[in-house]
Amino acid sequence: MEIAILEGDLTKQEVDLVVVNLFEEVDELGGATSAVDQALNGLLKQEIEDTDFKAKLGKTLQLRATDDAPFARVMVVGLGKRDAFDADTVRQAAAATIKQAQSFGVNTIASVMHGAGAGDLDVETVGQAMVEGMRLAAYQFTRYKAQEESDKAQDKLPETVKVVSTDSKAVEAAKTGAEIGELTARGTMFTRDLVNTPGQHMKPIELVEAAKEIAQDSDMIEIEVFDRDQLEEMGAGGILGVSQGSEHPPYLVHMTYTPEKAKKKVALVGKAITFDTGGLSLKPSKGMESMKLDMGGAGSVLGACSVLGELQPDVEVHAIFGAAENMVSGKAMRPGDVITIMNGKTVEVLNTDAEGRLTLADALTYAQKQDPDLIIDLATLTGACLVALGEEIAGVMGHDDDLIDNVLGAAKTAGEKCWELPLEKRYKKQLESPIADYKNIGGRYGGALTAGLFLQGFVDDEMPWVHIDLAGPSFAEKPLNNYTKKGATGFGVRTLLTFLSDIK
Ligand code: BES
Ligand code: ZN
Ligand code: ZN
Repeated sequence: MEIAILEGDLTKQEVDLVVVNLFEEVDELGGATSAVDQALNGLLKQEIEDTDFKAKLGKTLQLRATDDAPFARVMVVGLGKRDAFDADTVRQAAAATIKQAQSFGVNTIASVMHGAGAGDLDVETVGQAMVEGMRLAAYQFTRYKAQEESDKAQDKLPETVKVVSTDSKAVEAAKTGAEIGELTARGTMFTRDLVNTPGQHMKPIELVEAAKEIAQDSDMIEIEVFDRDQLEEMGAGGILGVSQGSEHPPYLVHMTYTPEKAKKKVALVGKAITFDTGGLSLKPSKGMESMKLDMGGAGSVLGACSVLGELQPDVEVHAIFGAAENMVSGKAMRPGDVITIMNGKTVEVLNTDAEGRLTLADALTYAQKQDPDLIIDLATLTGACLVALGEEIAGVMGHDDDLIDNVLGAAKTAGEKCWELPLEKRYKKQLESPIADYKNIGGRYGGALTAGLFLQGFVDDEMPWVHIDLAGPSFAEKPLNNYTKKGATGFGVRTLLTFLSDIK
């Protein structure tokens, strides 16, 4: 599928399908929608009235064009309410085009640039969102499908989509945005592939290989991989302890992206449990079903890294994750065992299913040794965060208000829902152990917060740090919207890329 942004008149396009749009509760057609309606002698307006089309966000109406029109069909995409219009409206509307086109098989499409100039969105953002919506809607995970079936899915995609505007300035700006959108979408899909891959084919070594490939593809990215022996020398008792019950050895991965001029030095840390059985504190089988998702944090860090060489933000990026499988066996960690993290602190492991924080404690310690200006960690850390915020919203915690604001701002722009949760000091005592510096679980309530507080114990007070718990939004148990099917979502990639690009 080729996406091109062009200057031109939508009514003159010789294509299978022309796409226009409409806001909810608008009687008069405007702009390109009105022009296309006129080209069809008022047929479009008539159809909208006859079918009582409401223009709800992402809903579509289709009709056959008149014989004298150069295009065969027209589709109207609903934009929802005008005052709710934002970049995500554009993503949803653009995605609806691909979804519908796939279902009735059209090859060539010319689409209006949704809402360019509407609201306070700049056209560059519109171009980026158009591409993101279309690419992500077209995403499919076909690794385990019969060849014919994955070919069929590919065949159903349109060959070309032209996004057309009569305004030459808008076309230029949208093109710049579209180039960024190609990268952010590609990074997101890279993550989706990693997270959708079952634990059987996404063992720690395979996550390492994915990282190595990224480093190979860009001469701005270097990689260092530490194996089990080196982890022992480093004293990475968290990563080692968690991986102890697994046949598959753990690794600590450190990737570095170095631009010519770096304004800041950022460490991105990801939880990388390639499969989480819970360990001896075994999960019930229902709760284990989706636990291939448990490397979603590192997956998003890798997705972002996979396009850094092309996006080229002016930030030095250190991507760090400790990859391990949380498995049961005669060698597995026992509840009650005490382990020592890389910074020398000891942890009484009362629940082996609270494993992510143990690997992250090592990874955060290692990250600080790189002397970054700030650290962001992403982790599918707690079921409690899902209980608190549901499946679509990530929990954000930290002790630096400016950094939290910047991350929340980037998430909003990227269309990824985040909400701040408090690191309540009074809950810290829940993590006190009679025999070690910490225990790895708190009480019954507020589990996302006690997990956040545990991580905070491994970050210096002066180090700006944000923790994103994406246990919910990393994986969609059901289709979420026009551009997010059931399965891995790639959540976090676009927030990270937006955050890095915005650093001044
Ligand atoms: N990987 C899970 C968290 C999770 C749960 C992610 C559901 C996505 C969906 C994590 O390792 C875990 O098991 N956490 C425990 C912690 C508890 C034992 C303190 C949890 O949330 O139940
Ligand atoms: Zn767990
Ligand atoms: Zn886990």
